[in-house]
This record gives sequence, structure tokens and C-alpha cells, in this order.
Amino acid sequence: MTISLNAPAYVRHEGLKKWVAEIAAQAKPANIVWCDGTDEEYDRLCAEMVQTGMLTRLNPEKRPNSYLARSSPDDVARVEDRTFICSHDKAAAGPTNNWIAPAEMRVKLDELFEGAMAGRTMYVIPFSMGPLGSPIAQIGIELSDSPYVVVNMKLMTRMGRKVFDVLGETGDFVPCVHSVGAPLAAGQADMDWPCNPTKYIVHFPETREIWSYGSGYGGNALLGKKCFALRIASNMGRSESSMTSPGWLAEHMLILGVEAPWGKKYHVAAAFPSACGKTNFAMLIPPAGMAEQGWKITTIGDDIAWIKPDAKGNLRAINPEAGYFGVAPGTNKSSNFNCMTTLSQDTIFTNVALTDEGDVWWEGMTKVPPAHAIDWQGRDWTPELAKEKGIKAAHPNSRFTVAATQNPVLDPEWDNPEGVVIDAFIFGGRRSTTVPLVTEARDWAEGVYMAATMGSETTAAAAGQLGVVRRDPFAMLPFCGYNMAEYFSHWLELGEHLQSSGAKLPKIFCVNWFRTDEEGKFVWPGFSENTRVLKWMLSRIEGQAEGQEHVFGITPKYEDLDWLGMDFSIEKFTTITSIDSAAWRKEFELHTELFERLAVGLPPELLKIKANFESRLG
Ligand code: GTP
Ligand code: SPV
Ligand code: MN
Repeated sequence: MTISLNAPAYVRHEGLKKWVAEIAAQAKPANIVWCDGTDEEYDRLCAEMVQTGMLTRLNPEKRPNSYLARSSPDDVARVEDRTFICSHDKAAAGPTNNWIAPAEMRVKLDELFEGAMAGRTMYVIPFSMGPLGSPIAQIGIELSDSPYVVVNMKLMTRMGRKVFDVLGETGDFVPCVHSVGAPLAAGQADMDWPCNPTKYIVHFPETREIWSYGSGYGGNALLGKKCFALRIASNMGRSESSMTSPGWLAEHMLILGVEAPWGKKYHVAAAFPSACGKTNFAMLIPPAGMAEQGWKITTIGDDIAWIKPDAKGNLRAINPEAGYFGVAPGTNKSSNFNCMTTLSQDTIFTNVALTDEGDVWWEGMTKVPPAHAIDWQGRDWTPELAKEKGIKAAHPNSRFTVAATQNPVLDPEWDNPEGVVIDAFIFGGRRSTTVPLVTEARDWAEGVYMAATMGSETTAAAAGQLGVVRRDPFAMLPFCGYNMAEYFSHWLELGEHLQSSGAKLPKIFCVNWFRTDEEGKFVWPGFSENTRVLKWMLSRIEGQAEGQEHVFGITPKYEDLDWLGMDFSIEKFTTITSIDSAAWRKEFELHTELFERLAVGLPPELLKIKANFESRLG
């Protein structure tokens, strides 16, 4: 039996239709639905998922037009060990990516996708990363057998019929094939959250294709996000570099706008590893005193930035996404008021707890937990159970999906196809020791060194062990779609190119919000107080703030930060800014390990900088 392609008349791209027909012939879905991206479609799919048990509708009086999804307990995060970069040559993927030869991987995928969608609907999801029709935007088409993916893609990207108009008859698109890998026999009852213990998240960088099998969750399944906007796009950005053009960057970065009281607006891009504070930093509310002075922060993006030099050599950034897939735990009215407002309606929650009132709850949402809730696995939960058995109501990587347009502090430029000019880059990991609160790099190359050698404690955003320090260069370890050593070169060369053409490069800073005391408590209160660090950075750009030079760069003295309205002792400040030489000697050993691992293609400049730092440390 051949299934009907069902392509609407407005789809004029024969190549696209042929590809959809080919995938359908292989995966054998029961039918094909071409998504138009309308609200009606969204509502219809959500209603269908409520019927099948995949979604629970939340109490409309508490949380209008919002839903809860509970995933399978073994499908709760990205799977880095199942993620592959299948470049022609192994060396092109580099030592930090999993690699399987393309031909071998294609045999495997053929086997996996044969009949994979049986009994399900295959959705054709047209989406644009970046403003529709903008010269920097890129189009993708995701074929997925998950209606959860469709509704999430509607919130996260510019998704819908208009994409076909931009594509026309011959436009380029990145083909993305996704199956939860749970074919249904006739009459077989479906699972609430279909998925497969076998998972493959596969990228072919040369042919710019994405294939994802076995997971329905986040970055594994919403293929516009990490797979396209980082792993494939990082390849695109580098491949466009030449003698005359430095190419561009696809980065795991938030972008924020910040208005200073002196009447100037700045734009800052910051890379922190997964679950290390990007969404929170992007939505920051300055502390009361500083807000009164005129400090104001607005969001352009919370996870991904595409950054290109303009004709004048300014680095301009766009957020290719249109929504947030953010970490729920820890989010509350005092840590992130703007986020809580964003989530007040029209939100999909995944793996949070359900209260008896039909609303959501997660650890850290309120000081007093509900007396009873249904946990993320659908079981009864009480605060006593949490105390006695350590059972969490929400999964540590539980998330919300919400359109950017619901953010009360969305920057007016967030949708500008030209992007915004970046004034500063910030890199930061989660380090309970060693790394000081903030350091300004002396120049671009030393900034690249600090970003390249950044370490961070692992979080629940990826499956695997938690809290172990690993090197996470540029917060891109799981997302760089090519050899990390060459990625370092790309950053260095881009800087050199712009500098030699006379452009002023953004300053580079490194931060760490996460130093702890002997009891394991965070010393720095973080969140809105991070504005003080931001103020110091912008003042440094203007030559208006002091600092002192140490081994790696410049760091503020106690009196260089604005403490208006905040009580933070000089002793505490010293705890989070001190540099322990012994700890740093160990840290340099870890840099050596990283550089040995990345020896092939490693820019020699980084080794020179390292030697220089080490001799300064003595
Ligand atoms: P991904 O979406 O996985 O890329 O994460 P993210 O980088 O956007 O992290 P997010 O802002 O969601 O924060 C992750 C966790 O870190 C949350 O539980 C936050 O409450 C916590 N967090 C964020 N900022 C700070 C901070 O300044 N200090 C402390 N102590 N915790 C923070
Ligand atoms: C991350 O893990 O960095 C995320 C969530 O932003 S996911 O979409 O799963 O990649
Ligand atoms: Mn992320």
C-alpha cells in the first residue's frame, strides 16, 4: 500500500515532495500531515494528545492554555554518548565528537527507520531558524512522528506555511528526520510517551542532514535547536570562511540588551554550559537601587546565537530561535520574575509536578512545597517523601516550552534580521572552586584561551554522571559539529581578520557564579546581583572602572563593584575572587590534558598563551 503524500497545493518544491515521499516509503507512517503552523493546528494537536494521554491540560484558571507532558523516565535529557557527527573523515569530527563512517551509519539508519513510523502520523514541519526570509535565516524541514515535537517546534521556531513561500520551487533546506522509534501494530495500544531504548542523534555535516531516532525529548527531538542551529550551523559558519571572509559563528549563547544610566545601550552574548544560567541571565532584573539608576535588561535570546561580521567589521548576532525551552527547577518569582510571568499561560511543561489544583510545581518554585502533588513520573508525592527518600517532585531537567513573545522584557530588536552589535562576550562555567567571579581577558586571543579551557560541573541537562568537572570549551563541547581544535582556530582567525581590517572587537570576560563555602552553599547570591558584574564589564569597556591585573587578566577589587543596596562583606568577596596558585597549577594540568587530546590542529598560539600564564603563576 502506498500512502498518499497529501501535499497542499502551496508546496511547490518538487525536491522536497520527492524526499518526503521517500522517507514515507521507508518509515511507513499511517498517514502524512503537512503542518501549517496555525493556532488551530496547535490546539487540535494538543487536544488529541490530551485524548491519548501524552498531555494533561492544566487548570485553565491557574494556567490558561497550558499543558503538562510526562516523558518516559529514560527519556529525560540529551544523550551525548548517542550523538554522532558523521563526517566523511573522522578527523573532521575531531576527538570530542562520536564518529561513525557515513556509509556505515546510513546502513544502520536504513535498518532503524524501516517501518519506524508504522501506525503513526508523519508530520511535515517547515521551520525557519532566524526571521523568515532574512538573509541570515536558514530553513529546515523536520519529518517527525511525534505531535509533541510539532507543538514544541511551533513555540520554539518560526514554523508554518510561510516557510514554503520562502522555499519556493528550489530553495535550500536542511532535511531533518525524526522518529520516536516506536512503530504501532494494528490495534496495539500506544504508550503515553513513545520512545525506544536505542537512540541515535546523527548529523551528516557535508550533506547537512539530521537523523534522530528513539527519543522524543528536547535537544534530541526538536531538531532545529542543538542539531541544526549549533552542530550543522557551526559547520556552515566555518565553511563560509575564506581569504576574504572570516565566516561566522553558531554559539551556545544567550544575547541580552542592557541600557546603562549614561544613556547607551549595549548588547552582550554569554556562553554558559547547559543548565548553568543562560535563561536566567538573559531575563535578569537589576537590583532595586540599580534599576532606579536606570539599568534595564532585555532579552534577545536565551540559548543560541548566530554571529556574523557586518561590512564595518562589527559582530552582529541574531537569535535563530523564537521560543525558550528552559530549565524549570530553581525558577521562582524572586530568582526570575520575568520568567515566571512568561510562563503564566500558553506554556508546555515537561516532567514537572502536577498539583492538586491542576497547576504545576517544581523544586525551588515556592519556599513552601505543596502538601501533595503528582510527581514527574505520575506517582503521589509529598514533602515527607522528599525528606525521607530524597524523591524529587520534578525531574532536575524538567523544562518549559514557551514562545519568546510572552517574555515581558523581550528586546524590541529580538526579531531584527540585521541582528544586534555585540559589545562583550562572557564565558562562564559552574565551578564550586578555583575560578574567580569575573576576569577580563587582556586581549582576544587570551579570551579565546580562557573560553577554550573552561571547565564546568556536569548537570542534568545531559544523561550521565552529575557534578563532575569536565572541560567544556566555549560551552560547546556537546554542540560543536566539527573538530574542536579547528573551532578554536576559527575563533582566533575571525578575531585576527576583524582586527586587521581595523574593527574594534568585543571584550571577552569569564565569570563563575557558583563558588561554594565549606557547607556547599553558593557564596555569591547570583541572579539579579549579577547585574553588578555586568556594570563593571560595561564600565571597563568605557574605560570608567578600575581593576587589578592577575595571572589571566583583570579582576575588580572590592571597591570596583557597585554595592548599592547589597550587603556583601569583603571577606566573602575575597573567597570568590581569590586565586589559589596550587589549585591553578592543577587546573593547568587539565588544560594540558585538553590540549593533548586536541593536539591535531590545535592553534600553537594557545600553547604560547598557556606558557605565558604558567610563568606568571610562577
Ligand atoms: P540550558 O537551557 O540547559 O542551556 O540552561 P541555561 O544555561 O539556560 O540555565 P538556566 O538559566 O535555566 O539555569 C539553570 C539552573 O541554574 C537553574 O536551576 C537556575 O536556578 C540556576 N541558576 C541560574 N543563574 C544562577 C545564578 O546566578 N546563581 C545560582 N546559584 N544559580 C543560578
Ligand atoms: C541544553 O541542554 O543546553 C538545552 C536543552 O538547552 S536541550 O534542548 O535539550 O538541548
Ligand atoms: Mn542550552
